[in-house]
Amino acid sequence: MLWGDPGGCLPLAACPKAASFRRNATRGIRLKLPVIALASSLLLSSTALLAETVVVTADSMVDVENGRLLDDPVITITDGVITSVSFSETVSAEADEVIDLGDMTILPGLIDMHVHLTSDSDMHGYRRLAISDERATITGVVNAKTTLMAGFTTVRNVGAGSFGDVALRDAIAEGDVPGPRMFVSGPPIGITGGHCSDNNLLPPEYEATGEGVADGPWAARSKVRKNRKFGADLIKTCSTGGVLSKGTKVGAPQYTLEELTALTQEAHSHGMKVASHAHGTEGIINALKAGVDTIEHASFIDDEGIRLAKESGAFLSMDIYVTEFILGEGEAAGILPESLEKERMTGQTQRENFRRAHEAGVKMVLGTDAGVYPHGDNAKQLSRMVRFGMSSAEALRAATYNAADALGQKGDIGVIKTGASGDIIAVRGNPLEDISVLENVTFVLKQGEVYKSE
Ligand code: ARG
Repeated sequence: MLWGDPGGCLPLAACPKAASFRRNATRGIRLKLPVIALASSLLLSSTALLAETVVVTADSMVDVENGRLLDDPVITITDGVITSVSFSETVSAEADEVIDLGDMTILPGLIDMHVHLTSDSDMHGYRRLAISDERATITGVVNAKTTLMAGFTTVRNVGAGSFGDVALRDAIAEGDVPGPRMFVSGPPIGITGGHCSDNNLLPPEYEATGEGVADGPWAARSKVRKNRKFGADLIKTCSTGGVLSKGTKVGAPQYTLEELTALTQEAHSHGMKVASHAHGTEGIINALKAGVDTIEHASFIDDEGIRLAKESGAFLSMDIYVTEFILGEGEAAGILPESLEKERMTGQTQRENFRRAHEAGVKMVLGTDAGVYPHGDNAKQLSRMVRFGMSSAEALRAATYNAADALGQKGDIGVIKTGASGDIIAVRGNPLEDISVLENVTFVLKQGEVYKSE
């Protein structure tokens, strides 16, 4: 990014707040136009005086809702919120700052619906036991920045100990540390010995039980209430075993339908959505019958599961990239041999079922399980989603518009539209032609603030 003067209007102090120019003449230039407190504006309310306006322009923009490329977007963002979207080669800016991204393509900030910011990809299996929740939260600070720089302006964090995710979310929201907007679950809620919360690594004499362990409908309700009380936005549960948990079976259901229904009703009564980890066929069906909002992994989903998901409107969040990391680098990262064996039985089927479910028209979001593999590589999954049946436009929609919908944030994030948060990223090239360009995000704006500009 070149930094330059707006041409003929130096010194900056003499520049008017309003500027008009042809984009092609100022390509790649970032204009900083200071607000001049005119006498008349002193008469305005104090909020108007503090209003900060940024204009972003580029050659093209992806309309993720309709899957098309639009030329010459001019986006105005006031106090972090998009106040106008127009298309013109000429920019008439009433702004404090004009950011011309030249021949780049802009699109809304990406959303990953399944991350673990407080986990690191080289700390698997027994290595995890050496890490306190406090230490993990500090790891989360580092990973939050990495994730934002990769173009993810929003994440859903599905599982963290000691409400470290709540602390991280709030620190980011209050501007203490850079990171994506976070929607967080707090400790995942699950059965004794299950995939959620209980890590099953220690022998019985330690009597170790995870903080989200709850057996029975009322115990599950009680954990939902506790998570809400301490700041969780949503509930994460497990309705089957998992790949990375010791001694669980991916195919085996966890929780009865009665327990899952109680947990989901409790969450919904507080306006909280429910994400259920579910690989196995039966556990997927139980979770959907209980009314959960998203199915995580969905590896062995069958026709009945597909039918129920379509009927209920639940989204599938299928992490079809992570298998490559687990089978490639997992052993060196400490993943248990039994988990590697489970992954060998799961990954390929999950990819085939991703194709089937997508073809059947089930709603999909991008959810990657970042933290199992390195943070910042989140966008790598997009090309796998295309390889396994989606168009680039569909993969992009899963990572923006659909994800926002699944979060209950439609219109607020995941789109470049008036009223949405000023979350804009830029890439070189056309992501509708080559989705992998999203692996190299060159510009990140979140709530109207520049975090990355290459
Ligand atoms: N957290 C998940 C689990 O342990 C990771 C599953 C990864 N494998 C896959 N094929 N998506 O079950």
